[in-house]
Amino acid sequence: MADEPLVLGIETSCDETGVGVVRGTTLLADAVASSVDAHVRFGGVVPEIASRAHLEAMVPTVQRALAEAGVKGRDVDAVAVTAGPGLMGALLVGVAAAKAYALALDKPLIAVNHLAAHVAVDRLEHGPLPEPAVALLASGGHSSLLRVDALTGDVTPLGATVDDAAGEAFDKVARLLGMPFPGGPEIDRAAAEGDPRSIAFPRGLTAAHDQAAHRFDFSFSGLKTAVARWVEARQRDGEAVPVAHVAASFQEAVVDVLTRKAVDACRHEGVDHLLLGGGVAANSRLRVVAEQRCAEAGVALRVPRPSLCTDNGAMVAALGAALVSAGAPASDLAVAADSSLAVDRVRI
Ligand code: KG4
Ligand code: ZN
Repeated sequence: MADEPLVLGIETSCDETGVGVVRGTTLLADAVASSVDAHVRFGGVVPEIASRAHLEAMVPTVQRALAEAGVKGRDVDAVAVTAGPGLMGALLVGVAAAKAYALALDKPLIAVNHLAAHVAVDRLEHGPLPEPAVALLASGGHSSLLRVDALTGDVTPLGATVDDAAGEAFDKVARLLGMPFPGGPEIDRAAAEGDPRSIAFPRGLTAAHDQAAHRFDFSFSGLKTAVARWVEARQRDGEAVPVAHVAASFQEAVVDVLTRKAVDACRHEGVDHLLLGGGVAANSRLRVVAEQRCAEAGVALRVPRPSLCTDNGAMVAALGAALVSAGAPASDLAVAADSSLAVDRVRI
């Protein structure tokens, strides 16, 4: 059991009820129930709606995952759950459910960090990540650069967004271009028809004077505003908005900054492995540019397949299994969800 623990993982930090089953580094099941359709008309995730949806989806999604994996609840060696960071009400549902399963099945509870789980998921596709590595996590809720010396307990933040997350910028720009939520995939598609060099949008926190304090931090709010001003100016002049060119130029600005800072972090840390994770890592242009820049810098790039980049339960199970294998102790059944859990706390 110690080498290849069978772990049930529960993820409810945002709008996806994810339940995964993993044996060691092997993915057995990845069941996801998304409430994204319920948020579309609000143009973003509404926390109360997400919490209610988690509550309704939890038990059926656990049952679906166990059935898909061909195992029974009593077979699992541990129950892992995202304890934070994320939406408080949403996290509470997952943590309460995981405690109930752990108690009923008499198995250890492993409460883990959502960001570390985004890193851990790659084990299921490419095996254990060489350490040290740098991880770039970009999603609707987070944009972070991490140094990973040991996935199971030594993760150091190098930088993070100072305002909007990268995915949030995709969602907001998509909205002002009249595209539905979530906007990332819409922009990705529209951008394929546009010229990424047609409009010069700003690259936040890349100026020389930002290097001292914000070398590995991100800022996407100025970019979002620049796109809004550009579009408004066209509309004021009664001109048609070249949506594909705007999408491609905006996407290029985000991708340029994310990849440039990630490779710079690898160079600065003397690390030659970079991992991409989070929903934005599904972006087709990001994957291409990251590949090019890593090749130029002699950095080996790892990117899980898109369905493992977005929030899911398998990533939580993957981290839980790594922790159990490393001999980490169980979490206390009284453990509380922590909506702003610090990234260096891999498990609580
Ligand atoms: O990791 P995730 O599923 O949930 C969060 O933790 O937020 O990420 C969702 C985010 C959304 O902002 C969505 O627009 C973005 O990831 N996203 C993309 C793409 N697919 C999803 N952004 C850019 N290009 C994509 N292809
Ligand atoms: Zn996430």
